[in-house]
Amino acid sequence: MDIEGLKKQSTSDLAKIKNLADLEQYRIKYLGRKGEITTVLRSLKDLPAVKRKKIGMETNELKKDIGLKLFKLKNQLIEEETKKKERKIDVTAPGIKISRGHLHPMTLIARKIEDIFQSMGFKIVEGPDIETEYYNFDALNIPKDHPARDAWSTFWLKTKPEKLLLRAHTSPMQIRFMEKNNPPLRIIVPGRCFRYEATDASHSHTFYQLEGLMVDREISVANFKAVIEEFLKKMFGNDVETRMRPSYYPFVEPGFDIEMKFPSGEWLEIMGAGMVHPNVFKAVGYVPGNWQGFAFGVGIDRIAMLKYKINDIRLLYSNDLHFLNQF
Ligand code: PHE
Repeated sequence: MDIEGLKKQSTSDLAKIKNLADLEQYRIKYLGRKGEITTVLRSLKDLPAVKRKKIGMETNELKKDIGLKLFKLKNQLIEEETKKKERKIDVTAPGIKISRGHLHPMTLIARKIEDIFQSMGFKIVEGPDIETEYYNFDALNIPKDHPARDAWSTFWLKTKPEKLLLRAHTSPMQIRFMEKNNPPLRIIVPGRCFRYEATDASHSHTFYQLEGLMVDREISVANFKAVIEEFLKKMFGNDVETRMRPSYYPFVEPGFDIEMKFPSGEWLEIMGAGMVHPNVFKAVGYVPGNWQGFAFGVGIDRIAMLKYKINDIRLLYSNDLHFLNQF
């Protein structure tokens, strides 16, 4: 075919292209390995030299021209097809479900405990995770070099001149609160505590406690029993059986441990407690003879484990979704 004829035909064929599939057909027809233009270029070698040069130039130009037009047309078609697709939004198609998060079991339990105590008139206060030796020990009647300090394996921070530590219990907040407030008072202090201990199924170096403190003119062990029984009933139901055993904490006198009975018949310790020691009142500037109070420290983790029947404390801190999604 002569070049003029090829030009005309390629132009009229180009006008017929309606979509990307047509365009591909067209490209194969003219520029493909066995396409019209390719065939002409291949046959150049059989032509006499004079003709070869002219036809060669013209064909190459046509090839370039077609290539350019195809390039432009292709972009245009792609744009049109995407637009068409965009217009085809099916408004009745079901949406993608957005998965909602939920509260951590520890948060659920902490909030439940807080609700129960708030219903009995306790106010929630919070204290710092990093404490001084004074608030964590001395003011709580645990003097330096007293063997009772060993009961709280402590993370000491490398600070100078003041020795700081990660609080080993929430009891320091008893002192901080009483220093600034006068009785009568009723507070609970939820918070993170730290102990320098090996981790196992029932121990974690980081855990949560909830401190309770009630001080007034005539607070007795009977008041304490009533408050704690009410708490445990609301938490675990009316059948819960509890008992108090004598125990020792330097900041209370007398001191108790509270235990709970399980269907299995086993007793489990869930909190330490007692009547506020006169030395603690002295440390905060109260006249000991004028005031009486009780304090307790309950392990929020322990309550969560009992409530949800979790047998390993580490599950609470591992962020494993298989575990967390059950709550
Ligand atoms: N702070 C004690 C502990 O962590 C618990 C406790 C609190 C005991 C208040 C008595 C009174 O072991």
